[in-house]
Amino acid sequence: MEKMIIEGGRRLEGKVRVSGSKNSALSTLVASLLIRGKTTFFNIPRIGDVWTMLEMLRALGVKANFRGEAVEIDATQIDNCEAPYELVKKMRASFNVLGPVLARCGRARIPLPGGCDIGTRPVDFHLKGLQAMGAEIRMEHGYVEAYADSLEGAEIYLDFPSVGATCHLATTAVSAKGITYIHNAAEEPEIHDLFNFLNQAGAHIQYVDSRVIEIKGSERLGEITYRVMPDRMEAGTFMIAAAATEGDVIVEGINPQYLKPVIEKLRETGCEVIEMEDAVRVIGKRPIKPVNIVTMPHPGFPTDMQQPFTALLSIAEGTSMVTETVYDSRFKYLSELARMGADVKVEGRTAIIRGVKELTGAPVTITDLRAGAALIIAGLIAKGRSELSGLENLDRGYEDLESKLTSLGASVRRIREESKECVL
Ligand code: UD1
Repeated sequence: MEKMIIEGGRRLEGKVRVSGSKNSALSTLVASLLIRGKTTFFNIPRIGDVWTMLEMLRALGVKANFRGEAVEIDATQIDNCEAPYELVKKMRASFNVLGPVLARCGRARIPLPGGCDIGTRPVDFHLKGLQAMGAEIRMEHGYVEAYADSLEGAEIYLDFPSVGATCHLATTAVSAKGITYIHNAAEEPEIHDLFNFLNQAGAHIQYVDSRVIEIKGSERLGEITYRVMPDRMEAGTFMIAAAATEGDVIVEGINPQYLKPVIEKLRETGCEVIEMEDAVRVIGKRPIKPVNIVTMPHPGFPTDMQQPFTALLSIAEGTSMVTETVYDSRFKYLSELARMGADVKVEGRTAIIRGVKELTGAPVTITDLRAGAALIIAGLIAKGRSELSGLENLDRGYEDLESKLTSLGASVRRIREESKECVL
């Protein structure tokens, strides 16, 4: 088993460039299933979730590989319309191959998904949307079986602006006959990136109103080369880490507009944030002022930044309240943060964080991807040594995290538990 060892108490200083966006990579890789030919991607991060998605595409009979810096997909043929349980269990986003496979093959059999343990995560919006487009859906033995000779454009309303359902249904609707409208759709920047990708390949997708998407279907997509957008969650993680360590970090390769809520909340804590054309500089200041946060769909405060931001607030001078409205259980990591000395209490969907003078290093376990970001930030500010296990959850979404943190001056390394051998 691997562990990450962090010696806390060092300021982060310098420049760091963010990798390609995980969520954008996953949804565009799924969408490449609609292209009966080759797609070449650049800026796809080398992370666990991408390996899982490439494995999923190969399991469907599609050619999908890294070649140097590029990822090459050849979906001329889909040989298999059934997805393996092991892959969908590992990563929820792989469930979204259902619609494209159905559109290409007339049938699909996909297991119900798993993914990070952050609350109940049903797929009812996905299934209702596919049914509205004419799919016949059966649920049997933990699998969703879908049938459709052809899909038709439809009016779809989402009860909540779900990122996954918006991506999945809009991508599927590209192959449906006629026009589809998705109402109360999500509008995260990664969804715009997906639509850019699909439109460049020949689709016609646009927002016709706030949270209303129009997809003109029946388009035959052509081969393209596409560069996915940078990862705003990775950028946010470095920005919060800079603030927490009283550091001075320039996070490069990111449009500050995508990070507005995080930038504004960092300013409220008292730190200085300078927005540049495609970079953000964060200069941490003490004392950290307490702030209140409510997570919301974009352009609200992103739920993915709730966990790392809470680590910062654990050493604020006063009490902060963080309310999670997107997921029903994204506070499990707080018990690990408490092991490092944080004073936290959960009441319903709100975490109450009473700032403490300092955190102390401890052995802790990463339970989901962004819990990993929170515990790393806690480790960076804690006095002494922290030992993080559960690194497979972290590796799902961060590329080269240790080397990037090390280049900023952090003391972070990985060991194998048995031999204490350094594998960096
Ligand atoms: C995506 C992101 C994830 C981010 C999340 C919210 C990817 C690969 N993952 O996850 O990083 O944290 O958006 O910004 O892009 N829901 C239903 N029924 C459904 C679908 C969703 O009730 O059919 C609920 C979920 O349980 C959750 C909420 O809607 O409470 C939001 O989920 P959703 O936006 O779908 O998240 P994901 O797409 O899984």
